[in-house]
Amino acid sequence: MMSVVKNIKDNSIRSKMKIAIVGAGGRTTTFLNYFSQHPSEGEVVGISDVIPEKAELLLKYYKINAQVFKDTEKMLDTVKPDAVIICTPDFAHVEPSVLALKQKIHVLCEKPMSTTLEDCDKIIEAAKKSSAIFYLGFNLRHGPVHATVHEVITSGRLGKITTIEANEYYYGGKTYFRRWNRFQKFGGGLWITKACHDFDLLNWMAGADPASVYATASLSHYKANPQGAEQCRHCQIQHECPDFFDVFTTQPSEWEQVWKEIRMTTEKNGGEPADLCLFNAKKDTFDNGIAVVNYKNDIRATYTVNVLASRSSRQMRVIGTDGMLEADMEHGSIEVIERHSGRKHTYDLREMIAGGHGGADDRMIKDFLHTCHLGKKPKCGWSEGRLAVEVALAARESCQRGSVVKL
Ligand SMILES: NC(=O)c1ccc[n+]([C@@H]2O[C@H](COP(=O)([O-])OP(=O)(O)OC[C@H]3O[C@@H](n4cnc5c(N)ncnc54)[C@H](O)[C@@H]3O)[C@@H](O)[C@H]2O)c1
Repeated sequence: MMSVVKNIKDNSIRSKMKIAIVGAGGRTTTFLNYFSQHPSEGEVVGISDVIPEKAELLLKYYKINAQVFKDTEKMLDTVKPDAVIICTPDFAHVEPSVLALKQKIHVLCEKPMSTTLEDCDKIIEAAKKSSAIFYLGFNLRHGPVHATVHEVITSGRLGKITTIEANEYYYGGKTYFRRWNRFQKFGGGLWITKACHDFDLLNWMAGADPASVYATASLSHYKANPQGAEQCRHCQIQHECPDFFDVFTTQPSEWEQVWKEIRMTTEKNGGEPADLCLFNAKKDTFDNGIAVVNYKNDIRATYTVNVLASRSSRQMRVIGTDGMLEADMEHGSIEVIERHSGRKHTYDLREMIAGGHGGADDRMIKDFLHTCHLGKKPKCGWSEGRLAVEVALAARESCQRGSVVKL
């Protein structure tokens, strides 16, 4: 195995950190699960959420004993954590990031850095003034598949890179349009909330600044359906709808049941109904799109995002003057073919991709803890975070204008 992929069993983290988490939703489970399994590395001492009952539910599920708060500032003042992990919806990353950085508390901020460049700049200003680390949670860079693709590219084995094709096939359309992600005001639209991951990967793999972006996208499937209702529970066509979500039935697994309770808790506390119709829920984003990014080093990249897919995976195809590479994150496979000899080399990473996001999540958390302990430069910080948002905003603008946007 190539050296770039760290062994997940690396136990060299020196002392336990006090961790606080902002936001108690789906992504928070990744972090609670990690610290419940690696208690010697970090102790979750506080969680804040605008709906504190959600934090209570998650803590109970993971058997973690931490204080719950509604107010993030009060949490930071009370539990005085070494680090804070920010898992609020995308538009709400800026406030807790700035708050923590001002108090010299290390920050692991979930992607995207924010939904606007103005908010990214507020975080950058606070980070520059702080002695604490601002770490951007671009987890995919830590996954064995993408880390190996990057190493093959930078080793020069493929020669001069000419094109990179990246795809995200996502099964998440089955829930996306009943969550906040469907509104630009919360997530910036799919080009930001989803594609920021992949634009970051392209920026990283290309190894140069992007020069221009062209993008096209459409809401092809999840359009309003006059026969359906606003919520599944009131819908006359629920029995024939493949996207029917039943809030009254006990879920098949304990985890799915907890997850349903979390959604019902949101609903009971004035949030959105748990079973919003995917078709009739208002939305201002799309369900499939393609972007073309030109880089200043004469690399062209394409990225396809489609949330209507039957399986979730990310794939990448890279063509250089001396060889090409094809990778599939779900299958944990990479194949490199030399152009002149036709020789093939395959990487079988199946044993390394267990865990969230193809093995990326646990590696990222471990790297964050190391980064804080060693006070080193984060693998991804504010400049990578801002650049991904810049490309994503250009893609959104290109879709609106129907023309190429120069960066
Ligand atoms: N890196 C990844 O692969 C990955 C995967 C999923 C989500 N994410 C990111 O994680 C973040 C959270 O996403 P999610 O799917 O868990 O969302 P979610 O809606 O499930 O959870 C967000 C939680 O934040 C709470 N909240 C909202 N505003 C708040 C505030 N101002 N202060 C405190 N709490 C607040 C909500 O009540 C909710 O419980 C997003 O930025 C998302 O893009 C990253």
